[in-house]
Amino acid sequence: MASTVNIIPVGGGKGGIGKSLISTNLAVGIALSGQKVVLMDGDFGASNLHALLGISHPLYGFQDLFISNKSPNSLLIETGISNLKFISSAGDNPGSANIDSERVKKIISFIKKLNVDTVILDLGPGTSFNVLDFFNISSHGLVMSSPETTSVMKTFSFIRSALFRRMSRKLKNISALQKLVDHSKPSSTDLETYNVTTLRENVKKIDQTQIEKVEEIINEFKPAIIINRVRSKKDLLAGDNLVNLVKKYLDVELNYIGYIVESDKVRESVEDMVPFLIKNPQSKPSENLQQIIGTLTNTDLHLVKEDGRIYVSKQVRLNSGWDA
Ligand SMILES: Nc1ncnc2c1ncn2[C@@H]1O[C@H](COP(=O)(O)OP(=O)(O)O)[C@@H](O)[C@H]1O
Ligand SMILES: [Mg+2]
Repeated sequence: MASTVNIIPVGGGKGGIGKSLISTNLAVGIALSGQKVVLMDGDFGASNLHALLGISHPLYGFQDLFISNKSPNSLLIETGISNLKFISSAGDNPGSANIDSERVKKIISFIKKLNVDTVILDLGPGTSFNVLDFFNISSHGLVMSSPETTSVMKTFSFIRSALFRRMSRKLKNISALQKLVDHSKPSSTDLETYNVTTLRENVKKIDQTQIEKVEEIINEFKPAIIINRVRSKKDLLAGDNLVNLVKKYLDVELNYIGYIVESDKVRESVEDMVPFLIKNPQSKPSENLQQIIGTLTNTDLHLVKEDGRIYVSKQVRLNSGWDA
């Protein structure tokens, strides 16, 4: 049976930009909206997701996939939130950060077979091949950025690396094109100026018949962006800048699905090991996130906390034209 699970990998150029925090709260919010969700810690080697969920010592982790004859479902850890399960990557195994390609394949096939609606996969920083391959499980992965120019440039590089890695994988049988898209040796191509226009020209020179395949890979790649730690209206422009950069140099449609403000409420929630969406559902960052979840799930989600209980209301968005 074809996989119907919606996989949302969360990546971005740098560490400390809120990938883990937003992954966790996104998973919590989508679960509260009624979907069955698995949150997976994909920051192999530097995991911290369990702490954001208030779990101090996860008893199992994805490593159990390789060492025991356990059923894969037994890796799923209860979170205390109905509909939400968690897969840890915590563990003291030396070398757990450097998983080989066979294990990457095994993890990917395990994720695709999970019997849930949505999997949120929180990735580690940077653009190593493992990170890019996990990001590329889906054609609509989520990228996080903060508003500063340095972060925006890193985010652009991340998206470009993901696109070129996709091409390299999908065109791996066409060796003549490999040197155009394989960036395992960055010094062989000028990464700053190498863009899709140049790529198209070069592909046409080498093998005109492959250009359609290249276009298909570009067209199906539709990542989304969230700008985190927003402090002013001006910061919101970082998302628009990224959309323009990505369109201009990669000819890719980047979907700007929202932003999260910088807030002490977020920091407090990390200290308390309680997701901010649950601790303060009516705070500004929580409202921002509810907007994003609305866009992702085509519903309007509204959370209210009263006397320590959370009330969830959800309206399904109708096509314009159906609401007459
Ligand atoms: N919107 C925000 N407001 C305030 N602090 C934030 C916000 N987003 C992230 N942080 C801070 O940044 C820290 C790092 O976030 P984290 O999700 O672990 O980053 P990453 O996974 O990208 O490395 C958080 O623990 C939190 O203290
Ligand atoms: Mg992280």
